[in-house]
Amino acid sequence: MFDLPELPYRSDALAPVISAETLRFHHGKHHKAYVETLNALLDDAGDTPESLEQVVRDSAADPARAKLFNNAAQAWNHGFFWDAMSPDGGAPAGALAGAVETGFGALADLKAAFVKTGTEHFGSGWVWLLAERGRLKVVATHDAEGPLTLENVVPLTVCDLWEHAYYLDHQNDRKGFLEAWFDTLLNWDLAATQFAAAQDQGQAWTYPTPVFAPGTARTARR
Ligand SMILES: [Fe+2]
Repeated sequence: MFDLPELPYRSDALAPVISAETLRFHHGKHHKAYVETLNALLDDAGDTPESLEQVVRDSAADPARAKLFNNAAQAWNHGFFWDAMSPDGGAPAGALAGAVETGFGALADLKAAFVKTGTEHFGSGWVWLLAERGRLKVVATHDAEGPLTLENVVPLTVCDLWEHAYYLDHQNDRKGFLEAWFDTLLNWDLAATQFAAAQDQGQAWTYPTPVFAPGTARTARR
C-alpha cells in the first residue's frame, strides 16, 4: 500500500500564505483520502504496483479506471506539491536561472506567466513549471491531471489551484495566493534538482515506493 508522506516542515511553517489550519486539512484530510481510496481500489483489484508513477500512467488512458487514475494522480500531485514548497523559498540559481532568463526574460516575467496561467485556469487543477530538457514552460492541468501523462517533461514546481488549497486563507483571491506563494514558498532547490533531471543529470522526484504484505496480490492468494 501507499503511504501518506509526512510533511517536510511543521504545519505552521508556511503561514501566513498557507495557514496551519489549511495545511492540516489539506494534508490530513484531502491527501489522506486520496491515498486511502487509492489503496482500497488496488486492494479490490488485487494489484501490487511497483510505483505510483506506474499506476498513474497505466490508468490514465482507460475510462474504466478513471476513479483509480483520479485518486492515484491526486496522491502523486499532492506528494510533489508538499516537497515543492519550502519555508525558505529562495531564488533560481545557476543553470536554472539561465533557463528562466532565456525562456521568460526575468524571474518577474516567469512569475507573471505562472500567476496569470493559474488565475485564468477555470475550475480545479494545478499550475506547473515544466522543463522539456532545457526549455521551461508554464502549464495548467485540470482536476487530477499532471505531467506524468505529458510527453518528455519533468515538473520543476507546482501550485494547487483547488479551492481547498487557499480558500480558508485567501477566500476567492486565487491571484493573491499565487503571487504570495511564488514569492515566498516556491522550493527553488527542488526545482533545480528537477531541472538537472530533465537533462539526464540525476533522478527526478518520485512518490515513496509502496509496500505490500506478502500474499497481497490476487495471483498470490490463489
Ligand atoms: Fe489539493
